[in-house]
Amino acid sequence: MHLKTVSTTPITGQKPGTSGLRARTRTFMQPGYLENYVQSAFDVVGPLTGKTLTLGGDGRFFNAEAIQTILKMAAANGADRVVVGKDGFLSTPAASAVIRRLGTDGGLILSASHNPGGRDGDFGVKYNVPNGGPAPESVTDAVHAQTLEITEYRTLEAPDIDLGKVGENYLGRMVAEVIDPVATHAELMRELFDFDAIRELFASGFRMRFDAMHAITGPYAKTILEEELGASEGTVVNALPLPDFGGGHPDPNPVHAAPLMAELFGPNAPDFGAASDGDGDRNMIVGRGCYVTPSDSLAVLAANAHLAPGYAAGIKGIARSMPTSRAANRVADRLGIPCFETPTGWKFFGTLLDAGLVTLCGEESAGTGSNHVREKDGLWAVLLWLNILAVRRKGVAEILSEHWALHGRDHYSRHDYEGIDADAAERLMDGLRDELPRLPGQEVEGLTITMADDFSYSDPVDGSTAERQGIRIMFGETVRVVFRLSGTGTVGATLRVYLEQFDPDPDVRHGECEVLDRVARAAGALAGIHERLGRRSPDVRT
Ligand code: G1P
Ligand code: ZN
Repeated sequence: MHLKTVSTTPITGQKPGTSGLRARTRTFMQPGYLENYVQSAFDVVGPLTGKTLTLGGDGRFFNAEAIQTILKMAAANGADRVVVGKDGFLSTPAASAVIRRLGTDGGLILSASHNPGGRDGDFGVKYNVPNGGPAPESVTDAVHAQTLEITEYRTLEAPDIDLGKVGENYLGRMVAEVIDPVATHAELMRELFDFDAIRELFASGFRMRFDAMHAITGPYAKTILEEELGASEGTVVNALPLPDFGGGHPDPNPVHAAPLMAELFGPNAPDFGAASDGDGDRNMIVGRGCYVTPSDSLAVLAANAHLAPGYAAGIKGIARSMPTSRAANRVADRLGIPCFETPTGWKFFGTLLDAGLVTLCGEESAGTGSNHVREKDGLWAVLLWLNILAVRRKGVAEILSEHWALHGRDHYSRHDYEGIDADAAERLMDGLRDELPRLPGQEVEGLTITMADDFSYSDPVDGSTAERQGIRIMFGETVRVVFRLSGTGTVGATLRVYLEQFDPDPDVRHGECEVLDRVARAAGALAGIHERLGRRSPDVRT
């Protein structure tokens, strides 16, 4: 075994951000490309001497090869130990849990989240800091600068280690410790939730379907739901993580998890349905004949969290991303706790969680979590729902309508226009920005604009600021439209239009579509979506 230095391949086009570096798998497979990011991260957080890192990924194509590469680089960079999930697997929330519980000096997570995988799909890598959360912008900016600077990386010439066997291996002087990827996370879940109550729920005949979408949560869900909580065998479907997610798009929403929706809305539907994404941080919740929007899910979880042992003392506060509906605010008001509105992206919750200002956080994009880790956590949300269902002994639909009866209902939908021309997208947003001062007082589709701005945020803990985080347009207190461009795509641009209408006295028979139809027309007219993008309807409605 000997050390060597090898040339890196420049990272062009993609700027590594707080979700790390994401690009086409083929791009990542170029020799020296992944290595450029990894060496830069090691340079920024290093020296690694005396340090322990966590390492794992969502099992997508190129995961195992990337793990071996990173292990050898960590050894060559002087790390003491790397803790790696068996088969190279760790869900994103599990990686966060391992970093925190074992107290490692941060870690590397291989994933492109909910983006399709495979040789022709996407791949990604990100560095998480010792609190278990995504690295802050100061760190990711430094890593980006370093990727432009370095021309070589350090590695160890050594045979691959056996990732299939739990135990310790040596790479030079470094220990590569292969761990059970599920154990640490399961232990944490056992502390937070009333497993006995959930076990009784299943024993009483409660039926559930969990669609792991051939992604990383399969092994976690099998172990926890079926083996430990007694859900019947076959509750978890598509449980085997596959390198290309079985050709699917591992994003748990009604469009990409259509089979689960069909089952829950069909004859002989189970009581409860759930799904999670490629790396296990997102979740979708469905009751029998009833889809729960992520915004409503956050609100219901916040209102009922005290029913789970881990939150029995009550929650300190809630944080939601700006485009997430205001349903969480209504719960916070009633509980007399603060509700923070942050820009899109989990990293903005980190400071609030670390400072103990909030206990629960969530995003409309199917991310929900709490202070137990510093990532969103799909299975955590599912287990909290189960705990609530086990204690309240009511169906999802009943819990939801009782929630709306008490708090009112925030009808909500997100429309995505995908793969649009990046310049046209920028022009559309700039056009809206230019109009902002002239919007208040204008009438669109019979709705009068009362406020319009481009959301900016100042972090109450560290004072850092974020500008231009999305255009908010209010039509009185009840109707809101938000426009923003996606920051996570790898091809072209995606325009997201978030539509919302509050109904203080809801009629549960109304679907989101009919209620939000007029709001959608107003949004389309305001932004000139058809004229500017040539699109008559969105690609995805969630
Ligand atoms: C999307 C979601 C956002 C989430 C992010 C990472 O980002 O909208 O809520 O934090 O993925 O999972 P976007 O593509 O909108 O920038
Ligand atoms: Zn994800």
